[in-house]
Amino acid sequence: MFEKKRLVVLSGAGVSQESGIKTFRDMGGLWEEYDIEEVATPQAWARNPELVMRFYNERRKQLYQCEPNNGHIGLAKLEKHFDVHIITQNVDDLHERAGSSNVLHLHGELKKARSSVDSSLIYDIDGWELKFGQKCEKGSQLRPHIVWFGEAVPAIDEALPIVQSADIFVVVGTSLNVYPAAGLLNYVRKGTPVFLVDPNPVKVYTNVTYINEKAGKGIDTLTSMLKKTYNFTLLSG
Ligand code: OAD
Repeated sequence: MFEKKRLVVLSGAGVSQESGIKTFRDMGGLWEEYDIEEVATPQAWARNPELVMRFYNERRKQLYQCEPNNGHIGLAKLEKHFDVHIITQNVDDLHERAGSSNVLHLHGELKKARSSVDSSLIYDIDGWELKFGQKCEKGSQLRPHIVWFGEAVPAIDEALPIVQSADIFVVVGTSLNVYPAAGLLNYVRKGTPVFLVDPNPVKVYTNVTYINEKAGKGIDTLTSMLKKTYNFTLLSG
């Protein structure tokens, strides 16, 4: 039986930009509007939990109004031809809603909450609002299930072997500013074709094929390039 090649994707905020979700470091990005230290660190949660809670509640509320775009959908469609694994820095669920089956979230998930005393206790949030007084089974206040700056990224251990097993590697919509996620590119096996989809230049130290387009169009371009190399028929639907 013909085995599908493994296509591994590292995605970032840019893939969701055309769905109406702001990126972090572009002009007008979230980190221009908010101070990381005030909303995305454990110290912020200790100092001003109301502000942190409001920040993530707003993000979650907005996520409920967003739909996957052509980029997410194009990546999901590639599963017909490849064994696709998505490693995302995004906390939205747009890859899943587009139909991708294997999605690993490095930085947590907006629609989930977790215990503030036991990080293994993770819960789905009912609706857009996480509230004070909502507690885990050990009695502690639930916090957003987000990896904040200064915290460990436990999912990186799962991501590494996936990256190392890639036959094709795709980077889409990330400025590669945040580690350890950005460092994953260094673990791609030598000789593996790497594609990078981004409308802006991104600094990388390996050989990549640049697709200088937004994800919505860029993933179509990627699919056409892969079709030529791997000789498959584009199926509709
Ligand atoms: P950034 O905001 O740093 O980078 C977004 C990238 O997407 C840039 O390279 C843009 O050029 C590109 N971009 C913009 N619009 C695009 C589009 N329509 N299609 C494709 N690319 C587009 O976001 P990330 O690299 O994802 O972490 O940021 C990494 C982490 O930093 C995030 O997960 C978040 C943030 O702080 C936490 O909050 C823990």
